Amino acid sequence: MRLDQTELPGFDDLHAPIGVIQQAEKLTAEHYQTGASMFLVGGSTVGNLAMLSAFCLPRVPVIVQRDVHQSIIHGLEMIGVDVVFVSPTFDEQTGLSKGVSLQTLTAAIDAYQEAEVVVLSSPSYFGNVGEIERVVQYAKMNNKRVLVDEAHGAHLHSDEQFPLSSLKAGADVVVQSAHKTLPALTMGAYLHVRNKDDEQRIRPWLRRFQSSSPSYVIMASLDAARAYVAEVGSKELQGDCGRFMMN
Ligand SMILES: Cc1ncc(COP(=O)(O)O)c(C=O)c1O
Repeated sequence: MRLDQTELPGFDDLHAPIGVIQQAEKLTAEHYQTGASMFLVGGSTVGNLAMLSAFCLPRVPVIVQRDVHQSIIHGLEMIGVDVVFVSPTFDEQTGLSKGVSLQTLTAAIDAYQEAEVVVLSSPSYFGNVGEIERVVQYAKMNNKRVLVDEAHGAHLHSDEQFPLSSLKAGADVVVQSAHKTLPALTMGAYLHVRNKDDEQRIRPWLRRFQSSSPSYVIMASLDAARAYVAEVGSKELQGDCGRFMMN
């Protein structure tokens, strides 16, 4: 219980960080090589709502991968976006999603050139990133902003052995549930922006969606999870990967 602090002098403020929280977020940005990284205490759910609110407009088409999490659907619904759903492809043997193919995205962009935003979910629940690099690069070449729900991929960035992270693929905004694949407490998540200027578009929405009394225990665990992947994780994760593959 002693860890459960609040915005007292020296403890900074998640919604306007200038002290220890700013330092922790900066270290996270350094690790993930982003323009800025923000801590989330309400899971990827809150990050998805904030990124959509920052970049989507009512009655404007947005290209959206069909098998997204309910938080994306809820965000699109609240904003009143004209959603253009694009189907993922499925692995023939397992029937599992492999994400949106380049062919599908190309057809969607041709048909809805006025769409300015593409929303993807990568990796799939089983770790498949499909053609993420080609898809993101094609969307960027066509001047689309790419928002990715990477809830299950906070670990991908840390090791070349893993499938490609959407940040490395070139996405503009990426949300990750650190609590799913890193040792962070439940609800701990990150929101990353490639372009530092986008931070100012996102933060006001995080202020609206997140508690004004964010949990310091969750925030501390996000800092610890970052330290883990940055300092020791890669080797341990490689070992775990090897063990899983052998089994
Ligand atoms: C693909 C995907 N996106 C977003 C979320 C929401 O994440 P969180 O539980 O961190 O709010 C989940 C949760 O299971 C998910 O599977």
